[in-house]
Parts: sequence; structure tokens; C-alpha cells
Amino acid sequence: MTAQVIDGKAIAATMRAELKAEVETLKDRGIVPGLGLILVGDDAASQSYVRAKERACEEAGIYSDDNRLAADTSQDELMGLVERMNGDPKIHGILVQLPLPKQINEAEVLLAIDPAKDVDGFHPVSVGRMVLGQAGFLPCTPHGVVQLLLRSGVTIEGAHVVIVGRSNIVGKPLANMLIQKKEGANATVTVCHTRTKDLARHTRQADIVIAAAGRPNTVTADMIKDGAVVIDVGVNRVEDATKKKGYRLAGDVDFEAVREKASLITPVPGGVGPMTITMLLYNTVESAKMAAGML
Ligand code: GUN
Repeated sequence: MTAQVIDGKAIAATMRAELKAEVETLKDRGIVPGLGLILVGDDAASQSYVRAKERACEEAGIYSDDNRLAADTSQDELMGLVERMNGDPKIHGILVQLPLPKQINEAEVLLAIDPAKDVDGFHPVSVGRMVLGQAGFLPCTPHGVVQLLLRSGVTIEGAHVVIVGRSNIVGKPLANMLIQKKEGANATVTVCHTRTKDLARHTRQADIVIAAAGRPNTVTADMIKDGAVVIDVGVNRVEDATKKKGYRLAGDVDFEAVREKASLITPVPGGVGPMTITMLLYNTVESAKMAAGML
């Protein structure tokens, strides 16, 4: 079997067009969704992610308040900026790009964000609501994965999903979202990680494999059941002298070989990546509607 490749760019473009239309309607009612972006330091990958977020806001008609802080910014300075944004009615979502420099206490910063503006879904209140199945902001990458599956016609209900990776940003929230007793979830979930014995024994049982380990070639063809759906969340920079930048992007899945066994597969780039920012825009629009008493 050769898998159909899921076009994350196209699905994200459809959703962004829907959001842009919704933003226009909101603007007619005097509501302009706004996102506060904070980047501390000069990590190249983070800079490129934040640039992409700014551009996406602009294209969707969302106001963005962009803040670039020096790498030696103090905890107090950063907390002060978060507090200012908490109190700014033009800002409906606050995103502090991670990772933060080592002098910053990340947990303290995330805790300082008003949960009503926590469009990243990283605040413990948002995490708690997600685990309990209550309404709240869902973290963007796992929410994007669920949307990709649903919009590709994959049945999650009753499926055995094996997640490879247990990060706070992807693996743990995905497992929680997929086991919820509600439409678009109801999966049986296994979470594998670096201490899992015989990883392949688990992945071979899966109807849906989600690779979020952060290491190229973690999932190979021998680990996949015929006809399984394979979602690759990995974004790894692999040295490549033939590229101008000296590297190329690779996921966690051996794409070419796995493609011959799976029924559906996401590429890297162009799979999950475009969905992450789309879900950030979605959360920001939802937050603006909530602030306006529309939800
Ligand atoms: N760094 C890598 N992914 C993310 C994300 O989704 N949100 C934030 N704030 N930082 C990140």
C-alpha cells in the first residue's frame, strides 16, 4: 500500500480562510482580535517561528503586539510585560515563545499569564480543564493534530492510538485530548517514551501512530501495521551540505519507507507544522469572542 499524503498546508489554508472571514465579521461589530507575542533572546528557530506567527496574524486580520527582548532580560522585566498584557483590553491572547533563557523561571512566567488569555494552553488552569474535559484553550500542536485527523476523514473513535513521546507540549496533552469521552475523541491511547521496552511491539498494534519524539528515524517501516495512519510531529534540523542553509528539516518518521505501508501519512515540512499556528489564530479569535461575551 502507498499512503495518501495529508496536505497540512492545504487544510491549514482552509481553516485560516474560515478564520479570516470570522475576523472580518467580528471587526464589523467593533471587535479586533489581538495577540501579544513575546520572544526573549536570539535563538534562530524561535525567531523564525515568531516571524511566522506575526505574518499569520497579519494575513488573518488579527492585531499583533510584537515584543523582542534581549537574551539577558530579567525575570522581573518579563513578568512586568506579561502583567501589562494581562491588563491590556486590545490583547486577547499572550504567547511567550519557548524555550526561555536559563535565568528565567519558565513555570513562573506561564503561571503569570491570565488563563483567559492563555492561547498556548500551557497554564496549569488550562491543562487542568483539558484533563477534566472542560471548555478551555487547547495547546496548539496537539489540537492541530486532532484537526488534521478529523479533516482527513480518520475515525478516532475506538481507534488504538500510539503516541511516541511524552512532552508537556505534545505527547501528554494529545493523550488527554484523545481519551476524552466526546465526539472526535474516544480513542484507546498508549503513550511510549524513551524508557519504553520494545517500542515496535507497541507501534505495530496501532491504528494511528503519532511520532513526537524529537529524533529523526524514530519510526521506521517495520514498526507500522499495514494501512495505519502515521502523523509526524517531529521538526528536526538535519545537516545537509547540498542545502543553502546547511540543513534540511526532517520529521521523526522514515517518510519514504513508511509511506509504502501506511494508508495516510503527514510530510515534514507541510504536515502538522502549518496547523500549529492555525490553532493559535483559532484560540485568539475564540478568546476575543469570549471577552466580548459572545461565547
Ligand atoms: N516552542 C515550541 N513550540 C511552542 C509553542 O507551541 N508555543 C510556544 N510558546 N513556544 C513554543
